[in-house]
Amino acid sequence: MEVIIQPNAESAARMAARLFTHLIRTKPNAVLGLATGGTPVPLYKQLIEQNLDWSQITSFNLDEYIGVGAEHPQSYHAFMHENLFRHVNINSANIHIPDGMAADPDLFCQSYEEKICAAGGIDLQLLGIGTDGHIGFNEPTSSLASRTRIKTLTARTRKDNARFFGSEDAVPFHVITMGIGTILDTRKTVLLATGKNKARAVAEAVEGPITSMNPASALQLHRSAIFCLDEEAASELTRTDYYRWVFDNKPAWQVI
Ligand code: GLP
Repeated sequence: MEVIIQPNAESAARMAARLFTHLIRTKPNAVLGLATGGTPVPLYKQLIEQNLDWSQITSFNLDEYIGVGAEHPQSYHAFMHENLFRHVNINSANIHIPDGMAADPDLFCQSYEEKICAAGGIDLQLLGIGTDGHIGFNEPTSSLASRTRIKTLTARTRKDNARFFGSEDAVPFHVITMGIGTILDTRKTVLLATGKNKARAVAEAVEGPITSMNPASALQLHRSAIFCLDEEAASELTRTDYYRWVFDNKPAWQVI
């Protein structure tokens, strides 16, 4: 696990964006795992500015609300189109986002996993983190071995996400999300977290015990997980001197 602390949200996003830029340049047919939420918006802006070639890129998004169609303004389909896809030359046939309107969600989830496998697995997964430590929509007590499936949101997450829907009542209860096991299978993952309201969840995930009560703590089992944080999100970590030293003294071969 690597912890990178940057002065502000913009520079934390820039750090995470560098990993994507490097991958897209060195592996033009890479498979990306993408995330939604307010946090990755500056990262997507920075990627768009790089004028990269997305023509052979394949993408898989983490999650989607059930009962929310692609045309709904708060769907994650609409979010991705607005914040990234319409600005780059990605082939729409290579975009995968869970279908919140699937007639048979269980079957859909199984086929989503099969598609990730058929694409060769995810090279680089972007994650945010919920205030309760959720990744994707894997809420506390999610199985650490879970695969793509239906989940029910907690009251806290519905409250946190009410800002996008106008009111808490409008936030769906059910979602499709990649599982924690699905995320652990990715080759590299970068979790971007900014703001004071993420500090507790981040500290528990990085320095606490591995527990389904903080799903992001499962990343301690990931072969290559990087936390890109701003000062506020890092403010409850206890070993920041060490993390900063590691970052400032990277051997040349480790620097992207
Ligand atoms: C949602 C998404 C998560 C995201 C989280 C935090 O619940 N499913 O993938 O990490 O929100 O979002 P934000 O970045 O807006 O705080």
